[in-house]
Amino acid sequence: MKILYVNASVRPDSRTQRIAKYLLDRIPAEKKIINLEEEDIRPLNNELLELRTRLTAEKEFDNAIFHYAKDYAGADLIIIVAPYWDLSFPAMLKNYIETINVNGIVFRYTDKGEVEGLCKAKKLIYITTSGGKIVSDEYGFGYIKELAQNFHGIKDVEYIKAEKLDIEESNIEEILQKAEKEADKILEDIK
Ligand SMILES: Cc1cc2nc3c(=O)[nH]c(=O)nc-3n(C[C@H](O)[C@H](O)[C@H](O)COP(=O)(O)O)c2cc1C
Repeated sequence: MKILYVNASVRPDSRTQRIAKYLLDRIPAEKKIINLEEEDIRPLNNELLELRTRLTAEKEFDNAIFHYAKDYAGADLIIIVAPYWDLSFPAMLKNYIETINVNGIVFRYTDKGEVEGLCKAKKLIYITTSGGKIVSDEYGFGYIKELAQNFHGIKDVEYIKAEKLDIEESNIEEILQKAEKEADKILEDIK
């Protein structure tokens, strides 16, 4: 099994990473770790978009610009680690999504114009933590779930969240351990 671990957390003592690492360390598998902060993935500009459009039209998928998309499409399990920022997730994760969402690699259009997912993964796990309460799951997890299910063909999407970590009265250790118990349940399913 090949795991793709996409990390959008940036703090050295990230609580989101703590939960995600708890999960990752318990799955014996080949692991590819992408720390987005180290990758310098740019948002699509016109030059990049034109290059990508030309290459996908010509089915020239050997170009280096497609390596993130190929890793995503070929993984058996995808873990996305993203702190809750500004009601959603860090922009670097959106840049990553723009980069991997390539027609012909992670999805394709059928003759009827419908989207068909081309990803191998059976499951995607989204892990987040927040300072306060998550006002709506739709802007972070919900968006990733929609993409995974409707564009990438990954039907099984799991969600682990730990909230209120920046609130003074919170028992942070207790909240994190509760999230790790949720990870244990997901692990039972994977093993
Ligand atoms: C730029 C930024 C934006 C944030 N926006 C929110 C927010 O909208 N709502 C919230 O509850 N917490 C927000 N927080 C708090 C983080 O979600 C919280 O501290 C989280 O646990 C950080 O994850 P980490 O420990 O993995 O870095 C924000 C933190 C930062 C740095």
